[in-house]
Amino acid sequence: MNSFKLVVRDLTKDFNRRSIFRQLAFSLTVGDSLAITGKNGSGKSTLSKILAGVLSPSQGTVEYFLDGVRIQEEQMKDTVGFVSPYLNLYEEFSAVENLKILSQIRSNKKRFEERADELIRMVGLWPRRDDPVGIYSSGMKQRLKYAFALLHEPQILILDEPTSNLDEEGMELVKEVVRRQKKNGILIVATNDSLEAKWCKKKIVLKVSST
Ligand SMILES: Nc1ncnc2c1ncn2[C@@H]1O[C@H](COP(=O)(O)OP(=O)(O)OP(=O)(O)O)[C@@H](O)[C@H]1O
Ligand SMILES: [Mg+2]
Repeated sequence: MNSFKLVVRDLTKDFNRRSIFRQLAFSLTVGDSLAITGKNGSGKSTLSKILAGVLSPSQGTVEYFLDGVRIQEEQMKDTVGFVSPYLNLYEEFSAVENLKILSQIRSNKKRFEERADELIRMVGLWPRRDDPVGIYSSGMKQRLKYAFALLHEPQILILDEPTSNLDEEGMELVKEVVRRQKKNGILIVATNDSLEAKWCKKKIVLKVSST
């Protein structure tokens, strides 16, 4: 087992003059799980995006370490999987094509074809794999986001609104993904749902700021 670590220091985000959160600090290692909770507009999605490296903080740092060595910013995307309402899929392309296009931004392309097929099956989209994603239902799109997030077997998995639009079978699938991730890596779940927050051992509650 590797010694992957996420270290957050002094993390602060402002949008224009609105302060979203200030000076957050925590660290997580393999086997850790963290729920990010708080009311609508408290900053859960914003924090998730910053932890996933797709949005910059106003102050502070998010660092990933593998065996004590800091992973360069450009390589962070190779170790993180992110499911988010803000992740856009390419509507005119099929499931496999989407996975291919999205994974091209990652340097780690091992076993792509084999793993893409395996994941499309796992999320239950195999019979619809050649359809353009634009005609997928909202739950089908959410399922495809899981296939993308898991394609490179990420050490850290960040789920924002993990079960949004999913049916019962989809929710069971997510629970299985969560169980595996907690065993093999780091899990972060941003949610308004108290049951989902209970999947995680640790919890932070963000407050809606008045400024
Ligand atoms: N690009 C942006 N520009 C300005 N303000 C923004 C931007 N993105 C988010 N915000 C603001 O940041 C605050 C936190 O938003 P965020 O989406 O992170 O909240 P949330 O906790 O995920 O809410 P929800 O429970 O509704 O998903 C809100 O006040 C929002 O208006
Ligand atoms: Mg949100």
